[in-house]
Amino acid sequence: MPPCSTVILGTGAYAPERILTNAGLTDMVDTSDEWIVTRSGIRERRIAAPGETTSDMGVQAARRALDDAGLAPADIDLLVVATMAPDLPMPAAACIVQHKLGLPTTAACFDVNAACTGFVYALDVACAMLSSGRYRKALVIGAEKLSSIVDWSDRATCVLFGDGAGAVVIGTSPQPAIGLLGTRLGTFGDSVDLLCIPNGGSNTPATPESIAAGSHFIKMKGKEVFKLAVRVMDEAARDILEQHQLRADQISLVIPHQANLRIIEAISDYLELPMDRFFVNVDRYGNTSAASIPIALDEARRAGRIKPGDLTLLVAFGAGLTYGSALIRW
Ligand code: ACO
Repeated sequence: MPPCSTVILGTGAYAPERILTNAGLTDMVDTSDEWIVTRSGIRERRIAAPGETTSDMGVQAARRALDDAGLAPADIDLLVVATMAPDLPMPAAACIVQHKLGLPTTAACFDVNAACTGFVYALDVACAMLSSGRYRKALVIGAEKLSSIVDWSDRATCVLFGDGAGAVVIGTSPQPAIGLLGTRLGTFGDSVDLLCIPNGGSNTPATPESIAAGSHFIKMKGKEVFKLAVRVMDEAARDILEQHQLRADQISLVIPHQANLRIIEAISDYLELPMDRFFVNVDRYGNTSAASIPIALDEARRAGRIKPGDLTLLVAFGAGLTYGSALIRW
C-alpha cells in the first residue's frame, strides 16, 4: 500500500446557549470577576441545558464538521470520541453518538479518555487507523459536559470549567507531507492525585457518604497542576519541533489547550513566540477539557487564521497527567 497523508477535511463546533458569566458565579460561591480574570483569563463559560448531554453536543459539532467536509454520516467508518464526561459510565459515548448521528452500524466507535489531552490522543489514534488502510473516513469528536462533574460549591474548580464540543472529519490524501505530520504524547501517571474524581470508579464505588462528601466531583491541586502543565506543554512543543527540525517561528498558529490564559502566556514566553501566534478563546468558554482544542481549531479556521501551507501546532495537558502535541500542515 502506498504511504498516504491523513488530512482534516472539515471542522465543526458547538457551544450550549446558556452563558454563565463570572458575575453569575458570584451568586453561587465566594469569588469575584477580578479574581477569576486575573488568575485564569476566563470571563464566561457555556453550560448545557437540562437534559442536554455530552453526546448531544458531540452530535451537533459532528454535523457541522460533516457539512464543512461535504460528507454524510454514511461516509464515516470510524468514530473516536474524546471525553471524560460520557453520558454513561458504560457504554462509550461514541455508541450513543453513532445512533443519534445515524452512522453506519459497520462503523467502529469508541471513546478515548485522556482528559484534557483527549482530542490530541484521539486524533493520533484515528489517523493511525486511517493510515493502516482499513478505514476510509473518520470523525474525531471532543465533547464534555463538565458542568455535571464539577462541584458547584468548590470555588477552586467550578469557576474554571465549561461545556461544549468540537469535531473534525479526517480522510487520506496521496499528497505527501500534509495533514498530521506527527504527534508527541506522554503521561505522568504518578500525578493522578493532582487532578481526579476520587470516587465512583471500580476501586471506590460511590457510597452515600462519598456522595455527601462530594468526592464524585473533580478535585484539583491547582498550583501543582499549573506548574506541571507549563513544563510538559513546553517540552511537548519543543520535542515535536525538534523531531521535525523546525523552529518555533515557523509555526503560523499554536492552538493550545484552553485551561488558563497564564499557562498559555508562559508557553508563549518559553517558546519565545508572541501571543498573536496563539489562538485564545478561554475567556469565552473556560476549560472545556477534550473539547477545547477542536472548538478553538474550528474557530481559528472559520476566522481565516489557518491558510493552505500553514503549520499549526496543537499542544495540551490534562488529568493523568497526560500531555501531547501534534503538528499539522494544511
Ligand atoms: N475565588 C476567589 N478566591 C479563590 C478562588 C476563587 N474562585 N479559588 C481559590 N481562591 C483562593 C484560594 O482559597 C487561595 O486563598 P488563600 O491564599 O487564602 O488560601 C487563593 O485564592 C490563591 O489560590 P491559589 O490556588 O494559590 O491560586 P493560583 O494563583 O494558583 O490560581 C488556579 C488558581 C487558577 C486554579 C491555578 O492554579 C490554575 O489554573 N491551575 C491549573 C488548573 C488547570 O489548568 N486545570 C485543568 C487541568 S486539565 C484537565 O484534565 C481537567
